[in-house]
Amino acid sequence: MLERGRGGLSIDGLAVEELARRFGTPLYVYSAAAVTERLEALRSAFAAQAPLICYALKANSNRAIISLLAGRGAGADVVSGGELLRARAAGVPADRIVFSGVGKTGEELALGLKQGILAFNVESSEELEALEALARSSRQRAPVMIRLNPGVDAGTHPHVATALPASKFGVAAPQALRLLERAAASRWLRARGIQCHIGSQITDPRPYERAARAVARTMAALARRGIVLELVDLGGGFGVRYEKERELPLRRLASSFCALMPAGPRLILEPGRWLVADAGLLLARVLYRKSAGGRRLVIVDAAMNDLARPALYGARHPILPARPRRGPERRTDIVGPICESVDFLARARRLGPVERGDILAVLKAGAYGFSMSSQYNSRPRAAEVLVEGGRARLIRRRETLKDIVSPER
Ligand code: LLP
Repeated sequence: MLERGRGGLSIDGLAVEELARRFGTPLYVYSAAAVTERLEALRSAFAAQAPLICYALKANSNRAIISLLAGRGAGADVVSGGELLRARAAGVPADRIVFSGVGKTGEELALGLKQGILAFNVESSEELEALEALARSSRQRAPVMIRLNPGVDAGTHPHVATALPASKFGVAAPQALRLLERAAASRWLRARGIQCHIGSQITDPRPYERAARAVARTMAALARRGIVLELVDLGGGFGVRYEKERELPLRRLASSFCALMPAGPRLILEPGRWLVADAGLLLARVLYRKSAGGRRLVIVDAAMNDLARPALYGARHPILPARPRRGPERRTDIVGPICESVDFLARARRLGPVERGDILAVLKAGAYGFSMSSQYNSRPRAAEVLVEGGRARLIRRRETLKDIVSPER
């Protein structure tokens, strides 16, 4: 966990300045203890249902993080063939993997079928047809959940809301019912469940409750037709506290799910952010200082290619100096070297004095940080380090210029 002591900022007992010196910057640092604590906290909130927790790999797909969770019984929610293979390589059993996404290719469907995953979360009737044709030709039944779009507003950033009526995800209730009936009638498909994921960084339990009611109605309609499902997957999206937001009240959510869902089917959850956001830091070094238009600018060596969230969603990650200096705080823009005005880590943020070479820690960067990073501006991607049992271990080396150009012909 993060501590502010006399030796400056530290994570699980290791000084972040020292980590920056040893591994260089920009650097992602994760606490293994923080990840496993979150997994256990989630399990304890949902203890009554004992759900299968399918970690949404897209939040942070480093193999060390996946295997940390897999080692404690988590499954995986994957959205590409690449994620499926990463999950398998990190030790997630195939029968704990659900495969989501609106645009799975034929190769990806075939891979999921060959691996023997728990379920495909099917998002359109054409996808269901493609999966059935594939299952028939490979003489292997395909396990299916249909993704229901309940048409609820999750009250989150529009870029991460997924259940508005015109959203590209899932199908509306009448079609979900038809597709599940179709799957149940097919020799090559196995209708296993309903899935629903309404968005990300949700802090209000009410949209989940509305969605759960819609899922329950569809299940009841199916039951009247004699179709009984084994799985109900209520997705991820659990919001965390970055700055002043309140965390989603998980215990209330768990008891409403209990009250709203029929007994019988196994509950699946697909949390990504909630498990890993708090566990990660992005360390950056101060390169230069200047002012412009009356504003103080601090230019650091991490940029929007390393952490896209501030630029993409206006996300506000707390930022702390590794070793605070005495002096007044001033409103500061903390920006990266990329040639775009949207390249900032924080805008108009209160920050004490800093000098060239100082280390700044961007907090709560464990989710959708490295996994969304790019090589834009031909910047090699950052290194990643895992702190476990008082030791820091490199879990992804820093990229080199050669890594960037070698695929080019
Ligand atoms: N299941 C499905 C089908 C999803 O699409 C997602 C996330 C999750 C689970 C996990 O959601 P979580 O528990 O992490 O909220 N890049 C954005 C977040 C995009 C989320 C995309 N889908 C961000 O940095 O805020």
